[in-house]
Amino acid sequence: MSTILTPELSAHWDEPDSFTLAAYQRAGGYEALPKALAMSPDQVIQTLKDSALRGRGGAGFPTGNKWAFIPQGDGKPHYLVVNADESEPGACKDIPTLLANPQALIEGVIITCYAIRAAEAFIYVRGEVLHVARRLHLAVAEAQDAGYLGENILGSGVSVRIVVHSGAGAYICGEETALLDSLEGLRGQPRLKPPFPATEGLYACPTVVNNVESIASVPYILKYGAAEFASVGTERSKGFGLFSLSGHVTTPGQYEAPFGTTLREILDLSGGIRAGHRLKFWTPGGSSTPLFTDQHLDVPLDFEHVAAAGSMVGTRSLQIFDETTCVVRVVLRWCQFYEHESCGKCTPCREGSYWVVQLLERLERGDSASADDTEAQLDKLLDICDNITGRAFCALGDSIQAPVASSIKYFRDEYIEHQRIGGCPFDPAASTLFALESAR
Ligand SMILES: Cc1cc2nc3c(=O)[nH]c(=O)nc-3n(C[C@H](O)[C@H](O)[C@H](O)COP(=O)(O)O)c2cc1C
Repeated sequence: MSTILTPELSAHWDEPDSFTLAAYQRAGGYEALPKALAMSPDQVIQTLKDSALRGRGGAGFPTGNKWAFIPQGDGKPHYLVVNADESEPGACKDIPTLLANPQALIEGVIITCYAIRAAEAFIYVRGEVLHVARRLHLAVAEAQDAGYLGENILGSGVSVRIVVHSGAGAYICGEETALLDSLEGLRGQPRLKPPFPATEGLYACPTVVNNVESIASVPYILKYGAAEFASVGTERSKGFGLFSLSGHVTTPGQYEAPFGTTLREILDLSGGIRAGHRLKFWTPGGSSTPLFTDQHLDVPLDFEHVAAAGSMVGTRSLQIFDETTCVVRVVLRWCQFYEHESCGKCTPCREGSYWVVQLLERLERGDSASADDTEAQLDKLLDICDNITGRAFCALGDSIQAPVASSIKYFRDEYIEHQRIGGCPFDPAASTLFALESAR
């Protein structure tokens, strides 16, 4: 475990022209590409396997293995699709990367296309971030003009074309198969798997779908070697990544650090919780991951340790909430998001998210006859969550249970308190706020 930051993707973000090709080259950019082109595609895939890079989009699937699933000699076009949809509450690492350092992604795209024998890549950008899409278009044009993209890249005979595609702004389109349907011009809804994208992805052809940060990490691995990348991190979560710190902290922002760094270490580096306040709860990986509390400050933030402590490291979206925050209100707000973004394809998620919100709204208003009635509502809430999880068509449905069940586990008395006072104890007008908190 290390307390030392490892700025690589974010190393030159504070330069005013960091997003340009010139700035990327000044920082050593495009040194990995000739190295990769001098290797065979299979050697590049092996290097990724050796690095043990795990997908940075949340699930942590080994990137080299994913590339190796692409069938060879099948006579079909192969595609790379970069998932830049980043829409989950709290997730905010890919959009800053694209804004500040888009060339790292483009160099990674070219190397990945070479490895999986693809001539065309799509970058699917979240619809709302027009400024990011513009910057990406500019970056693609700059790389093309410099001979890094297009036909016969650096005289290697390899050709790669990048299409930047803006979505229409739907969280479900971050789910990889819904993203593929959306790219094909269909309504963005998840596909039944199998077949998996590796065999039948975009236009029914072999396709790799990877997160922005996964692909932007590729140049470092090719440039410095798999062993260098794997020299930091923990046993089964190698390398470093962006930890996005937001909420009630002194200095929110991106902290690039080895996997296994703890929240306590990141807070120490960043000035801690905002002055005069203390940590109440936080998410290790965004709103779809079970809440942690101050008991979890020393959990190493990697795939295994976070899972063992009952949550998921997900997208490393560290949303921090202090003692002035109503956990019921926060969970309600997240579930309203899931209800709104449920694509409607499957009944458990479409109907379940609706009923979860109905119940949470009542609980938040303190609208129940007695503490027993509140307990019954909490049991019902958990029962509905149980009926969504594992029964929904995709992981969007599973996301709902995470904040609901964990908030009830750690803050059950806060739900009951809403009933006792007939409203939210954290309403500024409610005098119970400090009584409740000091009793904790
Ligand atoms: C509802 C939903 C939204 C998702 N949103 C994103 C997203 O915005 N970006 C992303 O990379 N992965 C997202 N994922 C995960 C993708 O389906 C997929 O696992 C990921 O893009 C694979 O990339 P990786 O292997 O590089 O992590 C989402 C999954 C679900 C179920």
